[in-house]
Amino acid sequence: MSTDHHAGLEDIEVLESAICDINQKGLTFRGYDITELAAHSTFEETAYLLLNDQLPSQKELNDFRRELAAEYILPREITEHINHVPREAHPMAVLRTLISSLGLYDADAADNSGPALHRKSVRILAKIPAIVAAIARHRNAKSHVESNVDLSIAGNFLYCLTGKLPDAETERLLETTMILYAEHELNASTFAARITAATQADTYSCMVAAVSALQGNLHGGANQRATEMLLTIGSPANVPEYLAAKLKKKEIIMGFGHRVYKSGDPRVPVLRSLCKALSEKKNEKQIFDTAAAVEAEMLKQKKLHANVDYYSGLAYYLLGFSAEIYTCIFAMARAAGYLAHISEQLDENKLIRPRGVYTGKKGLKYQPLGSR
Ligand SMILES: CC(C)(COP(=O)(O)OP(=O)(O)OC[C@H]1O[C@@H](n2cnc3c(N)ncnc32)[C@H](O)[C@@H]1OP(=O)(O)O)[C@@H](O)C(=O)NCCC(=O)NCCS
Repeated sequence: MSTDHHAGLEDIEVLESAICDINQKGLTFRGYDITELAAHSTFEETAYLLLNDQLPSQKELNDFRRELAAEYILPREITEHINHVPREAHPMAVLRTLISSLGLYDADAADNSGPALHRKSVRILAKIPAIVAAIARHRNAKSHVESNVDLSIAGNFLYCLTGKLPDAETERLLETTMILYAEHELNASTFAARITAATQADTYSCMVAAVSALQGNLHGGANQRATEMLLTIGSPANVPEYLAAKLKKKEIIMGFGHRVYKSGDPRVPVLRSLCKALSEKKNEKQIFDTAAAVEAEMLKQKKLHANVDYYSGLAYYLLGFSAEIYTCIFAMARAAGYLAHISEQLDENKLIRPRGVYTGKKGLKYQPLGSR
């Protein structure tokens, strides 16, 4: 068998992009260090930066916020659709379906011109959080809460989720995780979005492709799985035995390892300290200590570092969200990156179509059905 191919496209540079720079020293969005953006910017500011290649002025930010808020409200057909999905369906499956449905009610859906792309980007960024909140409420048999146009995207998500105005600290914590999640170069879901965009498919198809890829356990699904693992382990004392049993069976420990970062994920220190402070405040020190113990043991035994999903999952647990919506929160943040990449792909488009190495049978002669 030929080995002259690149399994998983590991380390292969397939296109040029001016959106996100990942290297072993850190992570930047449009040239700005992610830790600065997480500390000082808002999610709207970061989304504007990703979409427009520059930070907004105050006026531009105000206008952008107004445009977003004007798009918070969901079409009636979408809220009705949510009421009819099975309550037990995984929220990521429902979100994937509803993003597809959303495209049916967008007159710009198939228009890939610059102005239409902008309008769709605003709509998608504004509506996904409201959809995620509505899905979460529907799962718990709670009635739909209409968006509050006076709130930020993170604030409106919390409002639609709980029906109560969020406190500033919770809103800021959620927003910080969303900034850190907003973009990450050619991860599997963004690449799926770009592959789809490169065929000149409509924006909603690109978003569905992206969210479908994000759902998997090896990608965005890891935040839910990692937190469920921490809850199963229960306390730092149980960590050695738990990990020894899993690693002996060569099982993958969710929330560890990364295709690009081999010496640590630059988003982790911000999230780790956020989780530490939150766990102390919420009297949930045991789960943080368990997380820290797993992290230390994984580094010692496997030389593997925790990744963004490990601590963002824990942050969402500490913020009181149910585990099934963690990946949806990832999706509503990463939508900013997807939309920036879809637009960039269309700017200088080339169909993405690699080759495979054929390893199947050759030269067989067709046998008529009766003689097989
Ligand atoms: C993220 C991930 C898919 C990257 O995979 P990759 O770059 O293809 O790396 P590989 O799967 O080739 O891993 C290399 C080795 O480390 C091991 N490894 C990688 N991540 C591991 C993990 N989380 N737990 C246990 N072992 C792991 C692999 O089993 C492999 O071991 P081997 O060489 O003995 O076969 C992988 O680390 C993973 O599955 N992590 C868990 C899921 C997760 O947290 N995803 C979110 C990513 S942000």
